[in-house]
Amino acid sequence: MEDNQVLDRFEEMRELVNANLESIIEEQSSVFGEVAMVSGQIVLAGGKRIRPILAMLAYQLAGGDDLEEIIPLALSSEFIHSASLIHDDINDDSATRRGQEAIHVKVGQAKAIIAGDWLFSQGFGLGARYDEEVVEVVAHYCSILASAEFSQIDHVLDLSTSPEDYLEIVRGKTAGPFAAGCKGAALVANASAEKCEYLFEFGMELGIAFQLVDDLLDIRGDERMGKPRGSDIYEGKMTLPIIHALTILHGPQRVRFSEIIRNFEDSLFDELISLLNFGGSLNYSEILIRNHLERAISYLDHFEDCETKQLLKHVVNMVEKRHS
Ligand code: IPE
Ligand code: MG
Repeated sequence: MEDNQVLDRFEEMRELVNANLESIIEEQSSVFGEVAMVSGQIVLAGGKRIRPILAMLAYQLAGGDDLEEIIPLALSSEFIHSASLIHDDINDDSATRRGQEAIHVKVGQAKAIIAGDWLFSQGFGLGARYDEEVVEVVAHYCSILASAEFSQIDHVLDLSTSPEDYLEIVRGKTAGPFAAGCKGAALVANASAEKCEYLFEFGMELGIAFQLVDDLLDIRGDERMGKPRGSDIYEGKMTLPIIHALTILHGPQRVRFSEIIRNFEDSLFDELISLLNFGGSLNYSEILIRNHLERAISYLDHFEDCETKQLLKHVVNMVEKRHS
């Protein structure tokens, strides 16, 4: 397949996801009223749809040939993801998401919490129609997502946070759900245990890189992100570049760096970036991103070359180049 055909196929998949999400929200709004409409706004506000597309592609790579069979599982991942975004934005006091006002700003915190719960229920309703093994893997990694978020809170402004602590949080909050979605899809396609594991590991590596990119984007900023830069620093999140700089910097520079992250404000951005660059910390994250993406691709090597594999490689490429 030519590069532009890959892009077209990918866009078609995104449109398929969007059309399905729209029809579910419309249908559910007529049953549940305002809560469905409010929750639907965040789902339909955009987003890359990377999770549902990954589930669909993993299903096809694993030998599945009836896309309809995987769509509910694919959509369920987007509902659960959107639910977690609503709750995250409340906890982090973030006012914008996907380029729009966050739900808690629009309807208040109480309704936003319930909207998140409603989206979780929808996600589980869609996901629970599969075999026990599929439900088990998805539910397990959603539970881990929650415990990783607990751990992230416990590490706020904990300057002794290690790269291992960070990696465990990332595996839990972002990569685990990617991995579970890919493995769940492979199980639906009746793939061998081996292939299910390869796709699980593919999702895990891709998910780790995805979060590392997210953390870099937060520091560097990009208008297309749909939210302001620096939120992680304001929240005291210990992301990898910060952890790395705290290890590399010494003496007065480390003292200054600690002061900056403890009392962050926009006027300190340039100084923060220059200390991060002095420590080579942004560069370090970039190297790690490439390593994880290469590992992700190495798991695809276990599968025969085909169009689906090309599309998955395109997703890997997108994760590296993304700006939102
Ligand atoms: C953001 O996910 C939350 C993380 C786990 C990093 P996305 O960047 O996929 O958000 P949308 O769905 O595209 O808005
Ligand atoms: Mg994002």
